[in-house]
Amino acid sequence: MSAPPLVVGNWKMHGSTALVRALADLARQGWPACEAAVCLPHPLLAAAQMAFAGTPLRWGAQDCSCEAEGPFTGEVAPGLIRHFGARFVIVGHSERRDRHGETDGQVAAKAQRALAEGLTPIVCVGEKAEERDGDQTAATLRRQLLPLMRGLGRDLASVVIAYEPVWAIGSKDAATPGLIEDAHAFIADTLLFHTGLSARAVRIVYGGSVTPNNADAILARQGVGGLLVGGASLAPAEFLAVCQAAARCAHRLERRGAGGSTAPGSTPAD
Ligand code: PGA
Repeated sequence: MSAPPLVVGNWKMHGSTALVRALADLARQGWPACEAAVCLPHPLLAAAQMAFAGTPLRWGAQDCSCEAEGPFTGEVAPGLIRHFGARFVIVGHSERRDRHGETDGQVAAKAQRALAEGLTPIVCVGEKAEERDGDQTAATLRRQLLPLMRGLGRDLASVVIAYEPVWAIGSKDAATPGLIEDAHAFIADTLLFHTGLSARAVRIVYGGSVTPNNADAILARQGVGGLLVGGASLAPAEFLAVCQAAARCAHRLERRGAGGSTAPGSTPAD
């Protein structure tokens, strides 16, 4: 992956206009060289639009409807999210799959609609603990990806896939870098097989208990194109530190691309 890593904060059902302003103030003092965005609750989109303007931070939502508009009480149209300057929308987060019964087909439909309305969908996939323990990780990922690949085909080049093992979310225990690399490779192979899109064409990011302490090691792994950060994105200084890790990773990639040699595991200064 030659693009700089993408770091996306997922505020979930947290945050306030004060937190939006605090993050914007920090960003105005300078931000590391990575792509960074925050997906916040819908009512904070307008505040983000005002506060993040003129900073490198982009913003997005955490869910959207699969419809353009209509009599769907409580749903939020992706076009309206876009109207507030948002670039991203998370779809299919495990918390929505589990608590709201969202199916793989519905998630694919949301991603398709979001893309049609000019948003970049961040589609979450990942296995539960019992699926991991039953050796069902690959089958689960394939099942979750199939409707997406059928619905979007080569348009998946404009989508971000977030590999988030459900057991790692909010657990303080991220998946190991080796496991993350294997899962990313499996997702990339599946996309290549079904859509012909190469690993370089689709951005795959990792999420699940990412912190400033493990971000470097995760980003150093082959195929990891960025991070989806929950808890650690709620403290602006921690989110900044994760983005600094992403910038270090971008720096290493750049040096490699320029023919420089980087020893495995080394972390050149930002
Ligand atoms: P976490 O959440 O970083 O708090 O584990 C990640 C997510 O759910 O996207």
